Amino acid sequence: MAVPFKIDLSGKVAVVTGGGGILCSVMSKAIAECGAKVAILDLRKDAADKVANEINAAGGTAMGIACNVLDRASIEEANKILVDAFGPCDILLNGAGGNNPKATTDNETMTKELFDNADMKTFYSLDPKGIEFVFNLNFLGSLLPTQVFTQAMAKSGHGCVINISSMNAFKPLTKIPAYSAAKAAVSNFTQWLAVHMAPCGIRVNAIAPGFFLTDQNRALLTTPDGGLTPRSHKILNHTPMGKFGTPDDLIGALLWLISDEVAGFVTGTVIPIDGGFSAYSGV
Ligand SMILES: NC(=O)c1ccc[n+]([C@@H]2O[C@H](COP(=O)([O-])OP(=O)(O)OC[C@H]3O[C@@H](n4cnc5c(N)ncnc54)[C@H](O)[C@@H]3O)[C@@H](O)[C@H]2O)c1
Repeated sequence: MAVPFKIDLSGKVAVVTGGGGILCSVMSKAIAECGAKVAILDLRKDAADKVANEINAAGGTAMGIACNVLDRASIEEANKILVDAFGPCDILLNGAGGNNPKATTDNETMTKELFDNADMKTFYSLDPKGIEFVFNLNFLGSLLPTQVFTQAMAKSGHGCVINISSMNAFKPLTKIPAYSAAKAAVSNFTQWLAVHMAPCGIRVNAIAPGFFLTDQNRALLTTPDGGLTPRSHKILNHTPMGKFGTPDDLIGALLWLISDEVAGFVTGTVIPIDGGFSAYSGV
């Protein structure tokens, strides 16, 4: 991945949660390439270390830190490690998130017949624990790290938070009610936090990726033999640009939002990067 343009982040410290994952590993590398020291936080320490090692091997500065974004003590511990090694956080990218099959219905819509089919996971049989897991991972998992990592920013009077929302924040997607509600909450929280933190000099924005084929949605979008599911065909038919995004497509908007020079008056926005999906009515 080569960054499409460079911003100067030398002397800055960035924290990327979920940085061991597909989209956030690429975003971590772009931030590092612009000169920031990057802490890769992830539940999977091995994945975080792998990304950090790749950044270090390419001449950047990064480290992997084990962290559960749903556990305040774990986040505080990660912050301690961060401050000792790199100094306090200037840029927070809240990337940890995703859906889970436990919070996904089998059918797009409900019909009377589905009541007689015990094998089908309908809205009525969704496990509250599954709903809670997905809602918490995306919403609380963005809020709790923000509580910890923006304290130093608020005291210094300068900082930047980027949240990761989704298409389903604009309009819910079928089958995934908890993920849709959680990402709507992330967009709402982005605006709330932008207002709350403006006097402290912290800008808060979100990126709303469209459809990117990654591990979290592979089962919904591809068949076991690697073909596209009917849901994928629907998505592509509803995407004016007619393709899935690639992680590199996120980088331009990410760097623009982080840069105080070019986006210094931009706060409280949610930027769709979706090939036109959110703009298209379907007609
Ligand atoms: N893939 C898409 O098409 C798409 C679209 C819109 C939004 N998003 C969002 O982008 C973000 C990144 O998604 P991705 O597709 O790269 O997913 P991914 O599954 O590759 O990455 C998510 C990372 O978060 C980590 N993680 C999970 N639970 C955690 C926890 N409790 N604490 C710390 N880390 C945890 C995982 O280990 C993983 O490395 C997510 O917020 C996702 O909801 C993805």
